[in-house]
Amino acid sequence: MRLAICPGSFDPVTNGHLDVIQRAARLFDRVVVLVAVNMGKHGMFTVDERCEMLRRATTHLPNVEVAAYNGLLADYARERQAAAIVKGLRAMSDFEYEFQMALTNRKLNSEVETVFLTTSTEYMYLSSSLVKEVARLGGDVSEFVPACVVNDILNKTERTEKNDR
Ligand code: PNS
Repeated sequence: MRLAICPGSFDPVTNGHLDVIQRAARLFDRVVVLVAVNMGKHGMFTVDERCEMLRRATTHLPNVEVAAYNGLLADYARERQAAAIVKGLRAMSDFEYEFQMALTNRKLNSEVETVFLTTSTEYMYLSSSLVKEVARLGGDVSEFVPACVVNDILNKTERTEKNDR
């Protein structure tokens, strides 16, 4: 059984993430979508909220599970005996950071390969940060994220704004 991990912050999941998860689910027997810690980012959603949104967005994919981990991705990959870490690559701007992480993960766990899927062109521009900014400034995010998470973003943005006042 070939298991792949799709790791990320998923704060929140976007249509671009879902595209990569769906394509990974066609390539591997089982896919774990892993909400992992990115020390450089401060999240809008809690880890539990991100997992819950991902679970709803992936219910149509029977070989996909959602999990969270607050340690090293390389250790999680070893624990699960994963064959691959699958990441989406959007543009050159992603490349340096992703390349650095892939090489570090290989040093930490030589058993796991990092596989890059080029993002579908319609999602080239999309990021969770942009979705959050559009939502905070009152824009419509329904084109950018799965329909089942739009209300979570609206509710969270309203609550954040109320707390900010
Ligand atoms: O969606 P992101 O924020 O680009 O995802 C980055 C993420 C969470 C995959 C990365 O920060 C990560 O792997 N975190 C887990 C901790 C870890 O292993 N850090 C060393 C990475 S080489």
